[in-house]
Amino acid sequence: MDRIIINGGQPLSGTISISGSKNACLPIMAASILTDQNINLSNVPNLEDIKTMSKVLTSLDVEVDTSKANENKITLKYLNTGKSIAEYDLVRKMRASILVLGPLLARKRHASVSLPGGCAIGARPVDLHLNALAKLGAEFKLDRGYIECSAPKGLKGEEITFPTISVGATESLLMAATLAEGRTKLNNIAIEPEVIDLIHCLQSMGAKIEITDQRTVIIEGVKELFGTSHNIISDRIETLTYVIAGALTGENLKIENIQLEHVSNVLEIFKSLNIDFSFNNSSLNINKTKIFQGIELETREYPGFPTDMQAQLMVLLSKANSGSVITENIFENRYMHVPELNRMGANISVEGKKAIIKPSEKLIGAEVMATDLRASVSLILAGLIAEGETIVNRVYHLDRGYEQVESKLQNVGAVIKRV
Ligand code: EPZ
Repeated sequence: MDRIIINGGQPLSGTISISGSKNACLPIMAASILTDQNINLSNVPNLEDIKTMSKVLTSLDVEVDTSKANENKITLKYLNTGKSIAEYDLVRKMRASILVLGPLLARKRHASVSLPGGCAIGARPVDLHLNALAKLGAEFKLDRGYIECSAPKGLKGEEITFPTISVGATESLLMAATLAEGRTKLNNIAIEPEVIDLIHCLQSMGAKIEITDQRTVIIEGVKELFGTSHNIISDRIETLTYVIAGALTGENLKIENIQLEHVSNVLEIFKSLNIDFSFNNSSLNINKTKIFQGIELETREYPGFPTDMQAQLMVLLSKANSGSVITENIFENRYMHVPELNRMGANISVEGKKAIIKPSEKLIGAEVMATDLRASVSLILAGLIAEGETIVNRVYHLDRGYEQVESKLQNVGAVIKRV
């Protein structure tokens, strides 16, 4: 099992290039099931989760050509044979596998998908996906850990209001509704840039989708969808993760290939943290933040502060001159990085949904354990500024969502290696 070793205290100078967005790419790959023609994707990040989704789709008879994965290109082509079972040993690795359910129902009128596993950040059920798909005419039963679902008469358009905002459930319904009979209206949808990128890709495949106001979308079902070529948006969470790295120890660190419009909401908040950055339309320049005060902040659905940045921000807030309080509103168990950061000298306490971060003089390198994707990168960030050596175990979590993290950091001066 790989480990990453960091010797802290080095300034980061030079250029980091941002990869394509994992969370935009995964649903778009699942959308390949909606057509028999080629889906050519570019700016695809070379990540474990992308490989896992490729395997899930291959098991469903989608031809996935990854011969150009190191040029960040993949082509997908659904063979539309009989298979519609997403096996447990693949699905358990990644929660996003549930995203094949909507497209399978739309095309095959039947699907059997193992209940998802994935990150350890909470129960993360799929009830919002299932209840909404049921309104389009799907029937479900749970059988030995698999969701057996069918829509014998096909899917029929309906008006659906999500009781709570869900990125994945929004994506499932967008894909299923493209081939449903008639009109579907979705209210209270998620509007993360990754959801919008999926909508753009579906529209380029011939889907009739219109966003009518901030969280409402109307989909007119069509008979079939066609192939397309689509460039995946830049990864806003990777971008913001490296902004934090620059705020911790940057000396004119440049971050390129970003999409400013997807991170401007968070950069506004970072301004109140006195983070020293300047930008043009596709790159950011960051310098180490000098003195700054702590803040009170809640994670919210987009355009609020993203839950996927909560662990990373904690590391920076440990260096503030005054205390901070973060409230995690999206997931019920997303503080597993706290004990590990405290072992490095952070001073963070958790009370229910709230984490109280007190200033800590300095962080000391230690051997720590990664638990989920974003927690693992917060340990890397802490290692960049900790005194001495930090060893991060179980870095497979990291490889799920960060392309070549150690080489991107090595290239700007970090003393970091994988063993
Ligand atoms: C997506 O997960 C992202 N993953 C997550 O990123 C991200 O943290 C999350 O959205 C929130 O922004 C992908 O896009 C692949 P949700 P998703 O449905 O779709 C509850 C990362 O680090 N819920 O918006 O699973 C759920 O438990 C990952 O890249 C239900 O109760 O998130 C959570 O508390 C981590 N029932 C909340 O809603 C459901 O049917 C938000 O979940 C679905 C979700």
